[in-house]
Amino acid sequence: MAKIGADIKFVQALLQQSDVAGIPTETVYGLAANALDANAVAKIFKVKERPSFDPLIVHTSSLEQATSFVEAIPDRARVLADKFWPGPLTLILKKTDRIPDIVTSGLDTVAVRVPNHPLTLQLLKSIDFPLAAPSANPFGYVSPTNANHVNEQLGDKIEYVLDGGECAVGIESTIVGFDGDDVVVHRLGGCRVEDIEKCIGQVKVEVNSSSNPTAPGMLDSHYAPLTPMVLGNIYELMEANKHLNIGVLAFQKAVQGVGRNHQFVLSEKGDIDEAATRLFTGLRQLDTLNLQLIISAYVPEQGLGRAINDRLRRAEAKRN
Ligand code: TXA
Ligand code: MG
Repeated sequence: MAKIGADIKFVQALLQQSDVAGIPTETVYGLAANALDANAVAKIFKVKERPSFDPLIVHTSSLEQATSFVEAIPDRARVLADKFWPGPLTLILKKTDRIPDIVTSGLDTVAVRVPNHPLTLQLLKSIDFPLAAPSANPFGYVSPTNANHVNEQLGDKIEYVLDGGECAVGIESTIVGFDGDDVVVHRLGGCRVEDIEKCIGQVKVEVNSSSNPTAPGMLDSHYAPLTPMVLGNIYELMEANKHLNIGVLAFQKAVQGVGRNHQFVLSEKGDIDEAATRLFTGLRQLDTLNLQLIISAYVPEQGLGRAINDRLRRAEAKRN
C-alpha cells in the first residue's frame, strides 16, 4: 500500500525524480507527475491503465505560471481565470512546445487549471514545473474523493498519497474551451454553468460524448461503478427488479422497501452541493455490497445537479 500523509517535501522529491504521487484537490484526488517530463507523464498512463488518446489536465499555481506553456490567452479565458481560479474550472488553451505531446494526446491545446487546495497549491509553488494530473482512479472508474479511495485502487502501484482530507467539491472540474467566438463547455463539473454565464454571457454546452473529438476522454461509460446501475423512478425500478439484490442511491430520503444498509442518501437536507461531495463515496460504498443492480434517480437539473446527472447518466451507460 502507499503511504498516506502530509509530507509535502517527500512528494516534492518524488515528483522531481520523475515519479508520480497522489495529490488532493477541491474536486477529486489527482495522480500527479511533472507535466514537462514525458517519461514521468508516461507513468501516469501506466498506473491508471489509461489509453493514450485521453489527454491530461495540467495544474499550475497561477495564470502567470501558465503563460510559460500556453500561447495566447483569449480575453474571456482571462476573465474566467480571474474569477474562478483557484477553483474547479479547467480552460483549454493553445499550447507551446514545452508541453510534451503525451500530455495532450497530440492535440495542439492543453487543459489547464489552478486547483483550490492549500496543500497542493503549496506543493505547486515549491516546484518549478506544472503537474499533469488525471483523477487518481483506474481508467473509467469513479473518481476518488479522499486519500483512502486512492490507496484502495492504486495503492500497490504508487508510493505516496498526499492527504488533504475529503474533497470539498467532490466532482471533477468544469472544462471550457474557446472556439472562435464560441465558449464551449466540454465537461459539466464543479464550476456552475450559471456562474460562468453570469461572468461572460451565454456559452454552448457540448458534453456528449465519445464522438466529441475535442474531448476524447469523455466516454459515455466514464465515472462508473462496477455494479450495473439504472436511473428513473425509484419505486417503479424497485418493482421491476424485485427479483434482484438491489441497492438505492437516493437524493434526499431513503426509500421504503429496501434495507437501510443497501441505501446511500446523498443529502438529507436536499442540498445539491452536499450531494455532489458525497456522490462518488456513495457509488463506491454501494459498489462494495455485491449488489446486482444500483437504482437511482436524477437530481434537480440546476447548479451542480447538472454535473451530478451527467455522472449518473455515464454510470448507467456502463451497463450496456
Ligand atoms: O477536477 C479535475 O479536473 C480533476 C482534478 C485532478 O484536477 N482531473 C480530472 O482529470 O478530472 P481527468 O484526466 O480525469 O479528466 C481530464 C479530461 C480528459 O478526459 C479530457 O476529456 C479533457 O480533460 N481534456 C484534457 N485535455 C484536453 C484538451 N486539450 N482538449 C479537450 N479536452 C481535454
Ligand atoms: Mg477521470
